[in-house]
Amino acid sequence: MTILILGSGGREHTFAWKTAQSPLCDKLFVAPGNSGTAQIATNVNIKVTDFEAIKALVLEHDIDMVVVGPEDPLVQGVHDFFLNDDQLKNIAVIGPQKAAAELEGSKEFAKEFLFRHHIPTAAYQSFDSSTVEEGCRFLETLNPPYVLKADGLAAGKGVLILNNLDEAKTELKNMLVEAKFGEASSKVVIEEFLDGIELSCFVLTDGKNYKILPTAKDYKRIGEGDTGLNTGGMGAISPVPFATEAFLNKIEERIVKPTINGLVKDNLPYKGFVFIGLIKVGDDPKVIEYNVRMGDPETEVVLPRLKTDLVEIFKAISEERLNEIDIEIDERAATTVMLVSGGYPEAYEKGKEITGLDAIEGSIPFHAGATIKDGKVVTSGGRVMAITSYGNTYQEAIKKSYQNIDKLHFDKMNYRKDIGFDL
Ligand code: AMP
Ligand code: GLY
Repeated sequence: MTILILGSGGREHTFAWKTAQSPLCDKLFVAPGNSGTAQIATNVNIKVTDFEAIKALVLEHDIDMVVVGPEDPLVQGVHDFFLNDDQLKNIAVIGPQKAAAELEGSKEFAKEFLFRHHIPTAAYQSFDSSTVEEGCRFLETLNPPYVLKADGLAAGKGVLILNNLDEAKTELKNMLVEAKFGEASSKVVIEEFLDGIELSCFVLTDGKNYKILPTAKDYKRIGEGDTGLNTGGMGAISPVPFATEAFLNKIEERIVKPTINGLVKDNLPYKGFVFIGLIKVGDDPKVIEYNVRMGDPETEVVLPRLKTDLVEIFKAISEERLNEIDIEIDERAATTVMLVSGGYPEAYEKGKEITGLDAIEGSIPFHAGATIKDGKVVTSGGRVMAITSYGNTYQEAIKKSYQNIDKLHFDKMNYRKDIGFDL
C-alpha cells in the first residue's frame, strides 16, 4: 500500500516509524513532515488543511490510505471531503468525520454528548455574549477554583483555571465580549473543578467495534513540579502505574463502552483514535475532554508499546472489522522526554543545530519541531524532539532517556528533569 500521514510533529514521526515497519506499507509519504520523517518517508511540503493539495498528492501517487495526525483537518472535515469526492471516496481515511470531530471542536458539544450518554464528567453550563450576566451569577454559585473553557479549538490554550471569583468574572467577559480566543471563545463552558490526578485513555474504533490501547500520562506544564505555563506536553509515561486493573475496568465500563455506543446512537461516523482525557477523583474516572486524534507526546510512548502491525489495524478500521484484530502490547514501560526551544511556550528562536543524535544508544529520538537545513538537523519549532526509552519499570526507562539527552545539544535547549515525579 501507499500511505500518507498528515502532520509534522513527534506524533507523526512516531506514526511514520511504526507504519514503515509494516510489510503492508510499500511507500510512505508525510505532509508536511519533519527531519525525522524525512529519514523514513518522502516529505511533501503541503499544509494539512489544504484539501485540494492533498487531493492532488493522493491522485498523483495512487495513495491508498490517509492517516490524519492533528485535529484541525478533522474538525474542518477532511474525511468528508474524501467521501464526497468521486475520485477519493474509496481511499481509506483514518480519522472521524466532521460531525464526530466536534467532540474535540466544541467543548459544549462534548459536554452535551457526555450528559446524554450518562458518562461521568464535571457539572457545567455554557454561556455566550448574550448571557454574560447569567455566567457571572453561575460562577457565584460555584466554589473556587473556577474552570472556564473556550468552546472551540484554541491550540490548547483555551482553558483557564482561576482561584479568584472577580478574576473569573473578568476573564469570562474577556472571552465572551473581547474575544480573548477569537471565534473559539464566542461560547464558554464553565465547569465544576475536579480535584485528582490526570491520565489519558486511547481507544481505536471503526465506528462500532473498539480496542483499548495502553494508558499514558503526560506532563503539560513547562516547569518542574507541574508549574508555569501550559505546553503541548513536556513528557509522557505509559502505562500509568496507578491505573490498576479495577480502575481500567471502570474506565471501560463507565466511559469507553458508553462513548462508542453513543457514537452509534447519535450517528457520528468515527474511524480512528479517540483520546479520552480523564481525571481520577477518589477511585473513580471522570472525563475531562475528548480529542479525536492521538496525543502528542502520548503517541511517543503508546505506539512503541504496540506490537501489532499498525497498518493491519488501520486496514481493519477502514473495513469495519476491528473485532478481528488482536492488539498485542509490550509489557515494558515506555517514557519520553520532550526537548524544547528556550523560551517555549512563549517566544523562542529557531534554526539551532541539533548535535549528538548519532551518539544516542537504546533510546528513540522522535523528531518534532526539527527540520533539515544544509544537511544539518536544526530546530524549527517550540517542541523539538521527544526522546523515548523502554524499561522494565518507568524509572529505568526514564533514566535511559535522560542519559541520552546528556549527549544531545542545541543552543538554549530546555527540558523537564522530573518526568514521573508525581507517581
Ligand atoms: P482540556 O483542554 O479540557 O483538557 O483542559 C486542559 C487542562 O485543564 C486539563 O488537562 C486539566 O488539567 C485542566 N482541567 C480541565 N477541566 C478541568 C476540571 N473540570 N477540573 C479540573 N481541572 C480541569
Ligand atoms: N498532549 C496533549 C495533547 O496532545 O492534546
